[in-house]
Amino acid sequence: GRFVVLASGRGSNFQAIIDRVHDGYINAECSGLITDNPDAYAIKRAHNAGIPAEVVPYRNFPDKIQYENALMEVLARYNPDLVVLAGYMRLLGERIVDAYTGKMMNIHPSLLPAFQGLHAQRQALTYGTKVAGCTVHFVTHDMDAGPVIIQRTVPVLDDDDEETLADRILVEEHQAYAEAIKLFFEKRLRIEGRRVRILPDS
Ligand code: GRF
Repeated sequence: GRFVVLASGRGSNFQAIIDRVHDGYINAECSGLITDNPDAYAIKRAHNAGIPAEVVPYRNFPDKIQYENALMEVLARYNPDLVVLAGYMRLLGERIVDAYTGKMMNIHPSLLPAFQGLHAQRQALTYGTKVAGCTVHFVTHDMDAGPVIIQRTVPVLDDDDEETLADRILVEEHQAYAEAIKLFFEKRLRIEGRRVRILPDS
């Protein structure tokens, strides 16, 4: 199987995922990185790994429809079995989401359904929760709300600020995402309504 990654910035999840392809944990090929941001550090990571990087620069399009048409075309060219959103900071339109139902994942730095949207770690600190974490989920029309694949937790410590908490969650994100993608390509994820059943290793 093969997948593409969409990322908008730093790309540490992208890096963790391709590292786990290279060490054989994920049995699939990463055939491309697509970004909306010409300055994304993820592009450099793709080059270093010999993975093609495609920039579909959001700002150069007159409107969101035309941007998404261009993105759709690039995606279709790769014809991926799975689309991995890893720090991709835009909401995808219905047409793209529909084209990849059950074949598109996202990661969010909270224990969903708590703290959807931006600055999830800050939201957890503001609320005062004692645990935080991350969620890998299938993408549906509603933001940060699709069927949950994997969640991992971390403690929130008294002295945490946004950065220390985000760093602690990020370590778990990297593991959770690799595991979710591995399971997907082992055909061990079965969506049953809102729930995702993880089938045993056969
Ligand atoms: C991660 O915390 C991810 O959960 C969130 O944005 C951040 C992206 O980090 N959606 P990176 O680009 O993968 O380093």
